[in-house]
Amino acid sequence: MIKISPSILTADFTRLGDTLDMLIDAGVDMLHIDVMDGLFVPNISIGLPVLESINKRYDIALDVHLMIDRPHRYIENFVKAGADIISFHLEAGSDVAKTIDLIKSCGAKASLAIKPATPAKAVFEYIDMLDMVLVMSVEPGFGGQSYMPMAEGKISEIRSEAERRGADIDIQVDGGIDKTTCEYVKTAGANILVAGSAILKSDTPKLLISHMKENI
Ligand code: DX5
Ligand code: ZN
Repeated sequence: MIKISPSILTADFTRLGDTLDMLIDAGVDMLHIDVMDGLFVPNISIGLPVLESINKRYDIALDVHLMIDRPHRYIENFVKAGADIISFHLEAGSDVAKTIDLIKSCGAKASLAIKPATPAKAVFEYIDMLDMVLVMSVEPGFGGQSYMPMAEGKISEIRSEAERRGADIDIQVDGGIDKTTCEYVKTAGANILVAGSAILKSDTPKLLISHMKENI
């Protein structure tokens, strides 16, 4: 089953509640919350207070994408604020195995994210410990960028390795996913699609989301 996790990064934050009501009504499976610290990526976004407010008002799963330096420092805080899934970057300077264990011991699902320049094989040694791998299809930091086709090869490599190991993991893809590129990543083996600007800019978001959720 294909799941949709819309990124709220490009939302109008003065009307966040309306946007979330619209997304939930349109059939999304979870909400993708992009957290940036101005160090790991050259941008600063939202953080704990926004996550906490969303968690108080909505029942939907919260999928937190940490684009922060040394993420192990904040895992406990994000789980307490309501994160159900936490993605952290392999390139962010934390001990990967220890951070996966920490996320799981706090009671959330653990996901390892990789930037476009990081090869798929870098995640192989962690596959058996993980609930999800996040393959970035843009450089992390900004919404609205163009999809990078190199993501497809990485997704299929990770899908094959997971199958070889008998590991039932989710593969999420994030960046430039729209009506067209969603087909490429589904074919490659991704089953959770993050889409931000394509959904938030659409005049018919419900239709777009049901198209994205169609199996290939
Ligand atoms: C980029 C973020 C993405 C981004 C997706 O650093 O991790 O989640 O907001 O937005 P679109 O779908 O506009 O590329
Ligand atoms: Zn993201």
